[in-house]
Amino acid sequence: MTAINDVTTLEKEGGIAVVTLNSPPVNALSAPVREGITNGIKQAIDDPDVKAIVLICEGKTFIAGADITEFGKAPKGPSLFDAQAMIENAPKPVVAAIHGTALGGGLEVALTCHYRVAVPSAKCGLPEVNLGLLPGAGGTQRLPRIVGPEKALEMVTTGQHVGAKKCLEMGLVDELAEEGKLREGAVAFANKIVAEKRPLKKVRDLNDKVEAARGKPEIFANIRKANARKFRGFLAPEYNIQCIEAAVNLPFDEGIKVEQKLFRELVTGTQSAAQRHVFFAERQVWKLPDVPADTPIIPVNKVGIIGAGTMGGGIAMNFLNVGLPVTIVETKQDALDRGLGVIRKNYENSAKKGRFPMEEVEKRMGLLTGSLDMNDLADCDLVIEAVFENMDVKKDVFGKLDKIVKQGAILATNTSALNIDEIATAVKRPEAVIGLHFFSPANVMRLLEVVRADKTSKSVIATSMQIARKIGKIAALVGVCPGFVGNRILAQRQREAQKLIMEGAMPWDVDRVLYDFGLPMGPFAMSDLAGLDIGWNKEKSKGETLRDRLCEMDRRGQKTGAGYYDYDENRNAKPSPVVEKMILDYAAEKGINRRKISDDEILERCIYPMINEGAKILEEGKAIRSSDIDIVWINGYGFPVYRGGPMFYGDTVGADKVLAKMKEFQATMGDDFKPAALLEKIVAEGKKFSDF
Ligand code: 3HC
Ligand code: NAI
Repeated sequence: MTAINDVTTLEKEGGIAVVTLNSPPVNALSAPVREGITNGIKQAIDDPDVKAIVLICEGKTFIAGADITEFGKAPKGPSLFDAQAMIENAPKPVVAAIHGTALGGGLEVALTCHYRVAVPSAKCGLPEVNLGLLPGAGGTQRLPRIVGPEKALEMVTTGQHVGAKKCLEMGLVDELAEEGKLREGAVAFANKIVAEKRPLKKVRDLNDKVEAARGKPEIFANIRKANARKFRGFLAPEYNIQCIEAAVNLPFDEGIKVEQKLFRELVTGTQSAAQRHVFFAERQVWKLPDVPADTPIIPVNKVGIIGAGTMGGGIAMNFLNVGLPVTIVETKQDALDRGLGVIRKNYENSAKKGRFPMEEVEKRMGLLTGSLDMNDLADCDLVIEAVFENMDVKKDVFGKLDKIVKQGAILATNTSALNIDEIATAVKRPEAVIGLHFFSPANVMRLLEVVRADKTSKSVIATSMQIARKIGKIAALVGVCPGFVGNRILAQRQREAQKLIMEGAMPWDVDRVLYDFGLPMGPFAMSDLAGLDIGWNKEKSKGETLRDRLCEMDRRGQKTGAGYYDYDENRNAKPSPVVEKMILDYAAEKGINRRKISDDEILERCIYPMINEGAKILEEGKAIRSSDIDIVWINGYGFPVYRGGPMFYGDTVGADKVLAKMKEFQATMGDDFKPAALLEKIVAEGKKFSDF
């Protein structure tokens, strides 16, 4: 065996040279890996005894892509193109041997090999779009030449990982090797192609599939139209489509030029920087500095839920979906029946939509037990309380749980705003108490805020994070404070939105600006969707706020056909003249001199206080790191991924600019805009939010 460099070896098995890469964790195409490929293949080419070459990886995966940490830094060592040219122009067949995932640049390397062999569990994909990129090493030009433009479009715009069997059917893989015997299989395959004198198949020379699609612009129009909503605001999907169009309409070398140009634009742009930030943030968020990896985990085999309302039912589904038995407790039979009925209906709807077979509905419902007796929760390992948002009710429930549930179990609350330290005073084992703040609808939304109280044990925290992962959530560990991280930041935006419509804007102005910024909807459309009467009390309402007045007029949101907007029978929103007049009257009553408010002001007043609040949360230690706040806002509130979350957006704008605006607003509008001490510090020290 010859060492080519620290991460590459060359070994000969008869006439076959095996070039092996070993660069944990994922064999990403860092400078040493590119160098290893280039020199390893070259050495094999130069060796007259070698008849064919196998390129294979050690560890859990084939090359999983370019090294994302290298983007934005000065290039080092041989380029990926050099490595690919060495492979593609080799005078001897090169076979890629794929296990794990061949992704992005990894698949692009495999596409320059003359043949590809994979184990059945392997997957291939071009997921660059999820990083705000496109495959920039010939992937957009080579892939459609094998699988055809339609399939290629699907792969590059979704980033999906395609299983090896499917790859074999599509021609992306030439042969499957036996699971666990990739090297043997690939070497045998290499010997076979040498014996059969098979040609050096270059994907770049295949033209039949792309030529067949020439003059059919509808292929591209269709994918744009079908995904208009999903792609809104993102640059990368459109650029990926343009590259496949180029593959269809231009010769290979011209197509590569288009790919290069568009790749360069994306890789140097703010969207991809944001999406790469999110990629790492999603991985960082699981890392808890003061909870060691060997913290004992509490086995969770049975879950109890209290309250079968909106949240309790949705929460239960998460556990049923992964095969964990759930007992759900209500106070009255009709509430229980209603709750169980909603869960069943949700499952039946999913089955009707083809998400899973009908039998699955019964299987999941079979794991669910309804009860009116809290004693049935005695043997649960995890109990989640989702009763009314009222401290006395919650304390009463926890007091009872303390007497009923076995020692060692986790006692969680889904409260959205109550003080969990106070809830924990109701039990004799406060170390067992934690907040598991699900977002509505709890079976759909990916975010889970795991709220650690003063006395929560590390074991309870570690188990909660692990269980979150098991049910497919992305969990952020946060501390106890009003609204925790997500809603605390939301409160800033909501306050400003309300002030803005008094001072001169209309609800639809505010909504339009925030929608155009990339949020799924603006605050007023959101209120209409949720219902304006949440927390509103008909008896006590005296027209003091705009919301009171709307509710009193029975304009309680979409469900009553009117709220801030008027709705037609298809729930399409239209600005409401009634509301416009109400706002003008209300402002006049309060003696507010309305003025014209610019779109810039709307955006800055809604978003900068959010960033400022994020800084306060960080200085108080209520979030571990600034990127965790981004994760909360992207996954819980639909903050546009291509802006990287509120804190990353703050860095994009510049902390100094955010601070200057906050000061300017503070001078004219008061202490709602008081800059956080950390914001001042970040600017004084020339740092970024992402440094914290
Ligand atoms: N570059 C640098 N680091 C990477 C990386 C990459 N391409 N892919 C993964 N990593 C790191 C992760 O950050 C993580 O680091 P950590 O342990 O310090 O947190 C570690 O590798 C392990 O990753 P995961 O925790 O994600 O491991 P999994 O086993 O869950 O998943 C994976 C493995 C499916 C390969 C997943 O990591 C993944 O999807 N990676 C990104 C793949 C990708 O997007 N490739 C395209 C890159 S862009 C490109 O190739 C451009 C080209 O066209 C020119
Ligand atoms: P809900 O009113 O829909 O459901 C509460 C259910 O709890 C009712 O069915 C009620 O009968 C039951 N209940 C009340 N006391 C009980 C008791 N002692 N024992 C058993 N069951 C009891 O309320 P929702 O919306 O599900 O909220 C529940 C909790 O989740 C609240 O703390 C809320 O703040 C929180 N939350 C709500 C979100 C939402 O969007 N609705 C989002 C995140 C958290």
